Amino acid sequence: MRMYDIIMNKRNGNELSKQEIEFFVKGVTDGSIPDYQTSALLMAIYFNGMTDIETATLTSSMAQSGDMVDLSSIEGIKVDKHSTGGVGDKTTLVIAPIVAACGVKVAKMSGRGLGHTGGTVDKLESIPSFQTALDREHFFRVVNETGLSVIGQSGNLAPADKKLYALRDVTATVESIPLIAASIMSKKIAAGSDCILLDVKTGSGAFMKTLDDSIALAQAMVAIGENVGRHTIALITDMDIPLGHAIGNSLEVIESVETLKGNGPKDLTEVCIQLATNMLYLAKKGSMEECKAMVLKVMQDGSALERLKAMVKAQGGDACVIEDCNNFEKAPYSHEVKAQKSGYITHMDTEKCGISSVILGAGRETKESDIDFTAGIILKAKYGDSVQQGDVIATMYSSDQSKFQSAEELFQKAITICDEKPKQEQLIYARIEKDKVERF
Ligand code: URA
Repeated sequence: MRMYDIIMNKRNGNELSKQEIEFFVKGVTDGSIPDYQTSALLMAIYFNGMTDIETATLTSSMAQSGDMVDLSSIEGIKVDKHSTGGVGDKTTLVIAPIVAACGVKVAKMSGRGLGHTGGTVDKLESIPSFQTALDREHFFRVVNETGLSVIGQSGNLAPADKKLYALRDVTATVESIPLIAASIMSKKIAAGSDCILLDVKTGSGAFMKTLDDSIALAQAMVAIGENVGRHTIALITDMDIPLGHAIGNSLEVIESVETLKGNGPKDLTEVCIQLATNMLYLAKKGSMEECKAMVLKVMQDGSALERLKAMVKAQGGDACVIEDCNNFEKAPYSHEVKAQKSGYITHMDTEKCGISSVILGAGRETKESDIDFTAGIILKAKYGDSVQQGDVIATMYSSDQSKFQSAEELFQKAITICDEKPKQEQLIYARIEKDKVERF
């Protein structure tokens, strides 16, 4: 078999065979296919797409390119959750403890920030001494003892995805539904949970900017999960506006703790309740109404927050920052961003808000950059709010004062202020189960 013929086949719009896809994934993993041929095939897939069968074969070959985690030594149903990435998306920090407090185990491998989007592992590492690189035995022990553990992806989980993702990032082939679906689902399948909840983001801060594309991506991923025997549900949630008020690592941990205490922003709280409810439903804890009641109970009685503390301690972290968020190290510098005119905030370009936070130090400019865990943005006004010229609409934080000017320039470009009040934001657009799409 020759890579040249596989590229030509896809370029000509043909369906690739199982053997061709397996040859490609094996060659990517062992390094025998050069990057230029891999990139050519990725671009051909970007333009010509893949059939459901091709996408399923690509996903399972990528999942099997490395370790397949066996979670059977952890008792009970294990539920995983994956977000397609967003700005201010700290939902894992809120819902994993909620779900664990309701008796469902969460053994989760998360990622770092990517482009303008934040990553759960970076957020957790803002907790002093918190370990995100646990060996398998330690990981399982934490889940068995506390009900949850969130760690970084182990080096050999879907290594084919690692290589393909790095190439897609630099060849303008990220926004392809079969490639995103295979990338996400290969890692979820290899990570071993019984059920998977997908949080597919849509809007200006998401990889999928339109609702139709987001639904198509969700349908592709749900079909893949169900085909390999993992019960999978997807929610399409809003990422046209940053989620909550905090963007940046320790700022987001603080907001998550407040949300677990019942003092979180309305949008974040609502999305977390819906996601956690669906995770419990996947784990067969009851009807949707019963699952929602369980979620509200563990938020109100403090048991979800206790789970977060227990996980932090079990992973070596200093839980005093969770007990009292004032113990988090604070950025030495802050800067107020003021409204340039009066009116209503009618649009927030969420990708630009995310990049502005990266400029402040909350994300990496290059692969090697260190994160400034204290850096980020607290939004004082959001979409739909009425502001007067000169009102503070955001406070920026950083360890480097020189970053404020360019971060503010970009942030101001992200904000549109107009005279007319915009329509109410929608938080959840659709719920996708096997062969079923409910639009809200
Ligand atoms: N997240 C992933 O893991 N892969 C993608 O392709 C996009 C988002």
